[in-house]
Amino acid sequence: MDIILNSSDSADKSIIKVQLVESLDKILLTSTIELLNSHDFKPKYKATFYSPESRTVYVGTDLENEIENIDPYNIVDYYEIGATVLETLKPFKPTHIYLDSGITTAHSLQLLILGIIQSSWEFDDYLSEKKSLHPTLTLHLSPAMSDLLPESEKSKLLNISEGIILTRSVVNQTPEQLNPTSVQTLIKSELASFKNVQIKFLPFEELEKNHMNGITFVGRASIHEPIVAHIILKPSNTAKKKVCLVGKGLTYDSGGYDIKTGGSMKTMKCDMAGAGTLFGVIKALALMGGLEHTEVHWISAFAENLIDSNAYKSDDIIRTMSGLTVEVVNTDAEGRLTLADTLAYATLQDPDYIIDTATLTGACVRGVSEYYTALMGNNDELANSLLDVFEEENERTVYTPMPEVLRKTIKGTISDLLNLSTSPNAGHLTAGLFLSYFVSQKKFPNKDILGITDPKTYPWVHLDIAGSAYNKKNNQLNVDGATGQSVRSLIKWVQRLDSSCVE
Ligand code: BES
Ligand code: ZN
Ligand code: ZN
Repeated sequence: MDIILNSSDSADKSIIKVQLVESLDKILLTSTIELLNSHDFKPKYKATFYSPESRTVYVGTDLENEIENIDPYNIVDYYEIGATVLETLKPFKPTHIYLDSGITTAHSLQLLILGIIQSSWEFDDYLSEKKSLHPTLTLHLSPAMSDLLPESEKSKLLNISEGIILTRSVVNQTPEQLNPTSVQTLIKSELASFKNVQIKFLPFEELEKNHMNGITFVGRASIHEPIVAHIILKPSNTAKKKVCLVGKGLTYDSGGYDIKTGGSMKTMKCDMAGAGTLFGVIKALALMGGLEHTEVHWISAFAENLIDSNAYKSDDIIRTMSGLTVEVVNTDAEGRLTLADTLAYATLQDPDYIIDTATLTGACVRGVSEYYTALMGNNDELANSLLDVFEEENERTVYTPMPEVLRKTIKGTISDLLNLSTSPNAGHLTAGLFLSYFVSQKKFPNKDILGITDPKTYPWVHLDIAGSAYNKKNNQLNVDGATGQSVRSLIKWVQRLDSSCVE
């Protein structure tokens, strides 16, 4: 569906109005109070009522907390409100929506609009009858709302929205459609037209040559050879900062020989959501014209964790690019093996920061729920700057420190590391500890050849999005499947870093 953002000073009769209601006492018109009372409307958060007579959708914003709680995400989320508005209106096939008062900040308005747009997009690639409500939906902004959103901000908003839709779309695609071969064509078709974007794919032979055996072992049972995508978004000026964004890109995770059982293989097409998130981030940044002083690298290994006679096995010991050896204890803990090499490869770009995002562990879903992303890392300043942005964007993310006391549980006896902790507890945190080795260049075997003169450990944050990236309606958009959560925060974080370069 196409979206038009329009400024308009009067609401004509075909337009549906949106009215946010925090409490009936605050409504000025007695007739409205009577209407809502007659339908027994209580303005509880996200409660809705559509009146065809007044062509108005009323949305409750009263959070009415049952009990004291300092959860910073327990606030009115305008993105969710926007999605709720559109969901309520879908049966009426709206073509024009009028947004007026009830919102006082530019950011709340942006979130409301984004929520409406995202809810209007539905994944219908495989449906013979397309779901789209109507070819165009026009969002009319009252003069007060228009003042909050200048033209330049409008186009940025639509660009961000396009990025989120790309993420949601690729994560929802079937493993048959989106695999390590086809993803290369898709990346080129989405990004090659931007002059400031460089696209490079490392084929299997090059991965072998670079000793990126974590990736080649995990992906070698598939008919689609694993590859690494390395995309660079060049700034318009000389780069003052360099950021590596690394995303897990398992286009399918069957578990391998430690095969997933009990239905847990279903939905594992989502195991490339880390890469999918970064695809959306890069697309949105490119659409906005890129950055001024910050060079952004998106690095993802795309592979399928499958079974054939050549598949990797438990008991294998893999020598990774970093020089560290890893004993395979479980072939289903494959993401950290591919990330080991992509993170090591990222350090070779000598960035200021490394951020990885991955559907890494089931333990994360159990530990912080399907609503939250778990954030951990080795650098407080980086972690806090990201947490700030996630909170501002209302994208539920919680800091989970990696417990140093558990580090011993991932140490091997005949290898440096194990790909699975000997402890059954806190699997998301021991996975984080495992990754922490690979943002360090200490053990790189061939430093001279690689040009490493001063081996470093890079400031790094890991986001485990196993629950938040893909779930069953337990997300801000109330949809099944890919959520696109964290795309907007990562865009904002990179843009904030870029603006800090000029200060
Ligand atoms: N891709 C999964 C993690 C996952 C779980 C993502 C649920 C999204 C939703 C990962 O590769 C995996 O299989 N992890 C296993 C590891 C275990 C077998 C050692 C897990 O966490 O269950
Ligand atoms: Zn797995
Ligand atoms: Zn996986």
